[in-house]
Amino acid sequence: MTTTNDDAPPTADVLVIFGITGDLARVMTFRSLYRLEARGLLDCPVVGVAVDDWTVEQLARRARDSIVATGEQLDEEVFGRFVARLSYVSGDFTDPATYGRVGEAIRGASTPCFYLEIPPFLFGKVVSGIAEAGLGDGARFVIEKPFGHDQQSARALADELHEHVREEQLFRIDHYLGKMGLAEILHLRFANAILEPIWSRNFLDCVQITMAESFGVDDRGSFYDPVGALRDVVVNHLMQVVAAAAMEPPARGDMHTVKESQVALFRSVVEADPRHYVRGQYDGYRDVRGVAPGSTTETFTALRLDIENWRWAGVPFFIRAGKRLPVTQTELRLVFKRPPRMGFWPKGHDPEPNQLVIKLDPSTGIRFRVDARRADLGRIGPIELDMEFADEGGEGATPYEVLLLAAMTGDSTRFARQDGIDETWRVMQPLLDAETPVHPYAPGTWGPEAANGLTAGWGGWRTPWLPA
Ligand code: BG6
Repeated sequence: MTTTNDDAPPTADVLVIFGITGDLARVMTFRSLYRLEARGLLDCPVVGVAVDDWTVEQLARRARDSIVATGEQLDEEVFGRFVARLSYVSGDFTDPATYGRVGEAIRGASTPCFYLEIPPFLFGKVVSGIAEAGLGDGARFVIEKPFGHDQQSARALADELHEHVREEQLFRIDHYLGKMGLAEILHLRFANAILEPIWSRNFLDCVQITMAESFGVDDRGSFYDPVGALRDVVVNHLMQVVAAAAMEPPARGDMHTVKESQVALFRSVVEADPRHYVRGQYDGYRDVRGVAPGSTTETFTALRLDIENWRWAGVPFFIRAGKRLPVTQTELRLVFKRPPRMGFWPKGHDPEPNQLVIKLDPSTGIRFRVDARRADLGRIGPIELDMEFADEGGEGATPYEVLLLAAMTGDSTRFARQDGIDETWRVMQPLLDAETPVHPYAPGTWGPEAANGLTAGWGGWRTPWLPA
């Protein structure tokens, strides 16, 4: 059975952005919408809602400044078309009259897309305000992480939202799901008969996922300090990388079947063991504005996950993520089993296991690391077979363009579903419950020494594939 266009959900007839005067809009949203406009993909009015007493001209100025500040070359004709879509409603999110004014602004719309770029404690308030004003039927609600700070609070948030909207109406953004490199993993695995069979415990020794950031917490101290690295990027973004790397192929491309495959994978991940968990904090973090003086929040985390199914049993997935590391680079690395000793090679050589790397950020690409006899060395040495996606078709659209467009067209394939959220918190909950020390590390290093213990039996952490 194939999906026909008749099954396609209706495209949004208005985009309503709560919190349009905030930081996320400044850094991401205006630019993404402008780029969709430039590609001819933005097709509806855009209504901004915020507490600030702004005019639509002020909003247009903010849009222009924000887009220019991201480094985008502004095309006045495109920008003019974008600005012509904008209107603005000022109001307090706790005041029912605000939703009355929103209703006026979107009068006649049947499929509004409400994008909530607001602090999570306001999600319930805004969703109920919209529903009580009679604007919720046929609507989509796009919400931003964090989706709770542990399993219990994530469930409570979902229950609160479900009082007013159905799960199918919720589009939870995890911007990693909009990354080209992440989508590429599944295609590479299942479009290539030489890759699929080796992508399993029969051939692999371990999997390593590194998300290294050379910058620090900077001006985000008050957001980051109650959160920490595990909640900020592992339970969400890096678990999506695990899913793409480890899930079975969905039988169809529709949103339900794809999510079933993801959630099935999450279900087979064993609860993380605090004995295989290392937390670090970079020196100087406690001086960041907004950070508590004696904070024990981790800015680095390293852990091991085990997946109990036929494809993965016995292959540890090592994950590390941190701020103020030597580089900014995110990658997925498969480390193959070590070949036996090469008895026929006179000098003796202990080959490094093959590795297959998919880099996700800041650019995308694939690398195969093999050992071969090299004329220059007179012995066996590593050869890297590299392909930058930028050279083969170019880099894709930015995650927020991909995801906002998907939300407007009603394609929820790349959004997190509540049962998946629940599973990822289940996996991480033992780490949150355990009392684990936080080890200091010097900025510009690969985190605390203790993290090396995790991978010691697997040849250690491999240095990521860096730009040449
Ligand atoms: C965000 C985190 O969700 O993802 C940040 O809050 C992190 O701390 C960022 O830096 C990384 O995203 P990207 O796309 O820049 O790798």
